[in-house]
Amino acid sequence: MNKVSALYPGSFDPPTNGHLDLIERGAKIFEELVVGILRNSEKIPMFSLAERFEMLKTLTAHLKNVRIETFHGLMVEYAKSIEATCVLRGIRAVSDYEYELQMALMNRKLEPTLETVFMMPADKYSYVSSRLVREVAQAGGPVRGLVPEVVEQKLREKLEPVYKFHDEMQQASSGNSGGKEISTKKRKKKS
Ligand code: PNS
Repeated sequence: MNKVSALYPGSFDPPTNGHLDLIERGAKIFEELVVGILRNSEKIPMFSLAERFEMLKTLTAHLKNVRIETFHGLMVEYAKSIEATCVLRGIRAVSDYEYELQMALMNRKLEPTLETVFMMPADKYSYVSSRLVREVAQAGGPVRGLVPEVVEQKLREKLEPVYKFHDEMQQASSGNSGGKEISTKKRKKKS
């Protein structure tokens, strides 16, 4: 049987447990798996390319046949340049299918020798997306279980004021503020 080298392209802004689940599944069936982070100049990401690269590197350090890289331009051209013969994409629910099918067929039109393979992440991650994780985190909500711990930590660092405010509000509403107003607490801490 042919040994297949695959490319798993994406934005990974940020990497989620669903992404990691798919990488681990892919690493089991492909000889080599390259996780390609798109350098997209049109979108302003929450995490810089370097941050996403570092997070993915840490998260996949235990997978010896997985490599993290970045790319720009056409994905099929990048796949060819690294001699990948297969593209790995995840499908979580029927709602993903239409977009993924369109993309796979366009990629096939651009490069007929490149096959797209779809895999499903564990069902417990079927509702997890980077976009929703960003949305929850930007409102100070909990992202535990949705993203790996290193990513959760990075989100907390990046959104520290939001989380601080959210945690203080939670404390106040659960009666732990000791009757003091949040703003008073803040002023006292600083002096
Ligand atoms: O994680 P995402 O944002 O769903 O990944 C989308 C990605 C990066 C796979 C796709 O946008 C892509 O391949 N972009 C590179 C440009 C390209 O080749 N476009 C044609 C796709 S049909």
